[in-house]
Amino acid sequence: MTVAVWREPAVSGWGRLPMHALDHPERFELDGVWRFQLLHDPEEAVGESWGEIAVPGCWTMQDVGDHPWYTNYRMPWPEPPPFLPADNPTGVYEREVEVPAGWAGRRIVLHVGAAESVLLVELDGEAVGASKDSHLAAEFDLTGRVRPGERSVLRLTVVKWSDGSYLEDQDHWWQAGITRPVFLYATDPLHLTDVRVSADMTGELAVDAFVAHGAGTLPAGWSVTATVGDQPLELDAAWWADRVEQERVSSYAGHTRLVATVPDVRLWTAETPYTYEVKVFLHRPDGAVADQTSLRIGFRRVEIVGRDLLVNGVRVFFRGVNRHDFHPVTGRVLSAADLRADLVTMKRFGFNAVRTSHYPNDPRLLALADELGLYVIDEANIECHAYGHELADDPLYTGQFVERVSRMVRRDVNHPSVIIWSLGNESDYGANHDAAAGWVRRYDPTRPVQYEGAIRDDWERPQTASDILCPMYPSLDSIVEHARSGRQTLPLIMCEYSHAMGNSNGTLAEHWAAIESTPGLQGGFIWEFWDHGLLQRTDPAAGDPGWSDGVAAPGWRWAYGGDFGDEPNDGNFCADGLVFPDRTPKPAMYEHRELAAPIRLTYSDGVLTVRNRQHFRDLSWLSASYSVTGSSPVAVALPDIRPGGSAALALPDISEMSPGEAWLTLRVVTAHDEPWAPAGTEVCAPQVRLRAETRPLPDRAALRRPGSPVPLDDHGLLVHPLLSRAPELSLWRAPIDNDRDHASSWEVLAGLARRLVDVRRDGARAVVRAEYGDVATHVQEITAYDGALLFAETVTVRHDDLPRVGMVFETVAGLDHLDWFGLGPWECYPDRRFGARVDRHAAPVDELFTPYVRPQESGGRFGVRRFTLAGAAGDLTVHLDDDRRQVSVTRYRAADLAAARHHDELVPRAGCVVHVDAVHRGLGTASCGPDTLPPYLIGPGTYTWSWTLTA
Ligand code: GAL
Repeated sequence: MTVAVWREPAVSGWGRLPMHALDHPERFELDGVWRFQLLHDPEEAVGESWGEIAVPGCWTMQDVGDHPWYTNYRMPWPEPPPFLPADNPTGVYEREVEVPAGWAGRRIVLHVGAAESVLLVELDGEAVGASKDSHLAAEFDLTGRVRPGERSVLRLTVVKWSDGSYLEDQDHWWQAGITRPVFLYATDPLHLTDVRVSADMTGELAVDAFVAHGAGTLPAGWSVTATVGDQPLELDAAWWADRVEQERVSSYAGHTRLVATVPDVRLWTAETPYTYEVKVFLHRPDGAVADQTSLRIGFRRVEIVGRDLLVNGVRVFFRGVNRHDFHPVTGRVLSAADLRADLVTMKRFGFNAVRTSHYPNDPRLLALADELGLYVIDEANIECHAYGHELADDPLYTGQFVERVSRMVRRDVNHPSVIIWSLGNESDYGANHDAAAGWVRRYDPTRPVQYEGAIRDDWERPQTASDILCPMYPSLDSIVEHARSGRQTLPLIMCEYSHAMGNSNGTLAEHWAAIESTPGLQGGFIWEFWDHGLLQRTDPAAGDPGWSDGVAAPGWRWAYGGDFGDEPNDGNFCADGLVFPDRTPKPAMYEHRELAAPIRLTYSDGVLTVRNRQHFRDLSWLSASYSVTGSSPVAVALPDIRPGGSAALALPDISEMSPGEAWLTLRVVTAHDEPWAPAGTEVCAPQVRLRAETRPLPDRAALRRPGSPVPLDDHGLLVHPLLSRAPELSLWRAPIDNDRDHASSWEVLAGLARRLVDVRRDGARAVVRAEYGDVATHVQEITAYDGALLFAETVTVRHDDLPRVGMVFETVAGLDHLDWFGLGPWECYPDRRFGARVDRHAAPVDELFTPYVRPQESGGRFGVRRFTLAGAAGDLTVHLDDDRRQVSVTRYRAADLAAARHHDELVPRAGCVVHVDAVHRGLGTASCGPDTLPPYLIGPGTYTWSWTLTA
């Protein structure tokens, strides 16, 4: 009788070996092209006709008749558990296997890296086992079933929808297939079943080795030895040292503990990821090595003291990001190079922590995190978002909860980078969580456990499933208030904050100012690293897939929910990362890099101070040069400052420099090669203002001689040879993803009808009055000078909460280059500008726009004092009256952007669309989190500002 395990929640697998933390190097790889059939459901008979498919690979990304499907928290069907759709794509993978004859007599194990969502294994037509959990490996003992030197047929059947799918209802694409490598490995019948290491900051090391024999009964006289570090050190068998034999837990299970103290130990932290190699040898009674393994470990301690989480005794900040296993072409099949590139990007932008949202990531990621230095919150593959309340307490699911958590912990326990275990995400809170937490606490008392669902409703109530107060998207006020309340008992580290959907991540600077100055707050994890846009061909004739700078090649696009005909779907809510689908960093990454910088500069009372903001490192890994606005860089020696300390830096003499604003920028680079950055990589570039602007703004130097009367058309609009559209009032922006709650109330601002009230002239001066229904009135005073126009604007708006108050005009074609003095070089907005620098910047107009996956307001620069647009058509310069204005120069009108779902629908205009805003609303993070803060809101009232246009 065949049991339909895919609809048996009480069965998490069968025939599967226990999870362990070992790598067995003697492998027979099975990756490559396999025979493949896609059935409609798991009960359909396998046919005669086979196609081919790549392993590992999502079949949903390989054009075999099933496609990716994006939903956030709803299941793709409305029926509740235990319902499964009749159409349940099932992939049958088959291939011949012939293991080397030399493997005769060895124990042979099949390893399937990951299969989504249920794996059934057969060998030569005989059922071997089954496994659930799409993001953990499954192993099956094939000894005696595969015959070395002979062919066998291995069939792996993968069922897409199962009772397990209800536990895998995370906010990302539903895919299907075998997504991680498949191989066989061989060991001696007498073998290590597992090795667990505990390495404390004192240098004390304990290695627990677990041993079994393929024949069941352990022979007498086996032994285990181990070495640590570059100069191998024999470990002492201490735990049971009084026994002659190693410990036999029973006739079939062996366990020994080996201990040592490493002198002058170098500790592991994210800043100093120092690792040691541990080698473990299992000896047969005659001393010959039967099995061995090698692992890299780190000495460190994680502990909670009071309401602080300490790493090696230090209260560190967690500058974290949430990461999915994602790739725009393969779905979620990753190479070692992909994984490294992700973590290198994180390190280069100041991140020191990653949460493996919301399942155990590719196991190679943890070795990289150990090596490069990132703290990891390792999260189990449990999100029953749509039915959390039901499943968190459902006894049928208890086994799956505990297995999903415990198997992750058993896999990853030896990684120093893992500092917290997470029980999963958004699954309400129930007895099944407490069961899993209990297992972890017993197995690994050295690390805290966290689970957001346990603390969600009450930050103070004691519960058993979370040692960390790990809220998602709390308001800044609420966390500061809690930290100051005297009632905080747990370290507060936000598991998700600052939702990076589209043009977002406003108020990061305010968050970090509060975190760094409020005892009890320790940081958080930005949601999220990736924009999950899948590369999709839209033109059958398009060439090879390609992309650059976040933009898909012509004939391709970044697909999001709905683009594959996936219904229902949650649209572009999956495009909410800090990097584009091709890993190009978005401007918010530069903001984060500066906020996380190891060095901060301050200037006050004529003293320039450098602070070392790291927890463990001095500054010797960095070198620096400074430049003052308009001058060339000068190398400077960084003072020797201990972590947390500060020192004065000699100031350059600016008295001889030309008048006007003077900013000192310290460009800090890696002095030597780091594992994540070659020498010379920019780490940060903090800036301080040495001298304020001394001249009145806008620059009136050009305004001396009055000019001839201002040329206006019949509507009172300026006529200018370089403008194809005259400057007009603009109160609307193409909604960013964070604006979605406002989009409908802002529609009235999008289609403002202008009514000219009157035009009054007085020599070279014209005063134009216009009305915009009952929304706004606008008085524009234009004065002509020789070669320049001065605009004095007065706008009275009667609308709550506006996106912008400013002017928009369009230029003729042939002005393709922008040169500006103000914040840059990257895009910045009033509440996201910490990472930008005041300087003279220049860029082609086409490069100023940021191609957020769904087109929206983009490309702005805050604090622009003046800019020049130049090209074959001439040049045009604008001066602004304040250092807090916002400018954008792009090829798109706001309406063009708002009407498009994808970039390939946009047609760039030949001229430039120029917005010069007196005020621009902050970005906030309201697509899933708090809105911007009050200082960045724009309310009703009267706005006055001025600017000049010179051509
Ligand atoms: C959180 C959730 C994430 C993601 C995010 C919004 O609630 O844990 O998986 O959905 O919101 O993008």
